Amino acid sequence: MAVDLFCGLGGWTEGLLAEGYDVVGFDNERHVYGDQRYPAQLVLQDVLTLHGSRFRNAALIVASPPCQAYSYMAMPWKRGKAMAAAIRDDQSGRKLDALNALFNACFRIQREACEAAGHHIPMVVENVKGAQPWVGPAAWHYGSFYLWGDVPALMPSTRALKVASKSGRRTDVGNGVRFTSRDCGTGKQPVGFNDDKRRAEKCGGDWFGSGPDCSLMRQMSSKSSARKAASAQIAKIPFELARWIARVYRP
Ligand SMILES: C[S@@+](CC[C@H](N)C(=O)[O-])C[C@H]1O[C@@H](n2cnc3c(N)ncnc32)[C@H](O)[C@@H]1O
Repeated sequence: MAVDLFCGLGGWTEGLLAEGYDVVGFDNERHVYGDQRYPAQLVLQDVLTLHGSRFRNAALIVASPPCQAYSYMAMPWKRGKAMAAAIRDDQSGRKLDALNALFNACFRIQREACEAAGHHIPMVVENVKGAQPWVGPAAWHYGSFYLWGDVPALMPSTRALKVASKSGRRTDVGNGVRFTSRDCGTGKQPVGFNDDKRRAEKCGGDWFGSGPDCSLMRQMSSKSSARKAASAQIAKIPFELARWIARVYRP
């Protein structure tokens, strides 16, 4: 059995199902866009309220906490910079804790699961490049999908994504279409700029968690269902990545 925290449309779950796992996904929203929906058992629950002991029998935990606050602060936008400065300047650390609440919850849940199981249960957490200043360096990245936790030593190449991104084309990754164009062309942006920018813009307020400035960002974003559908698709874990992790940890 595997657990998919913040499961969204189930990019992780599709890879897990393909490798024969039973999967339970947790999200605080049921995402349905046309024929796209989460493909396994979905539990509607705030991940912050989960106790990891209920996952003592899991073979693997995967998680994709919301990324928008991190993406937003990585952008050269006044409000993003101001938000980052406010968090850095907060000597109490409370703003940083609030920012990282959902990311850190994943590791608490894993710890509780391991304690209840009496053995290590692997977990892979995905987020954006822009999360690194706040949560520490990622172990690996697959295109714009940055990974923390029990990332296997051997990981698939992202060459296909990079080739496509240079040519500014869309590319098919697994069974989902990923947008890989990097069309800024100024050469001034840090690596990953457009990946995070795209995810910040496209995700809009749709995937926000309960961080400190979420309401501000929500106000700034459109909530049309087309936008939500685009957000969900952009945030979806590529099938190759999900299946690789699933295969490595298959019992
Ligand atoms: C980055 S998306 C996940 C994408 C997913 N891995 C996929 O492949 O489709 C983040 C998800 O977290 C959910 N979410 C946000 N805050 C949450 C919370 N406190 N508890 C549970 N789910 C939450 C959102 O509804 C969204 O589906």
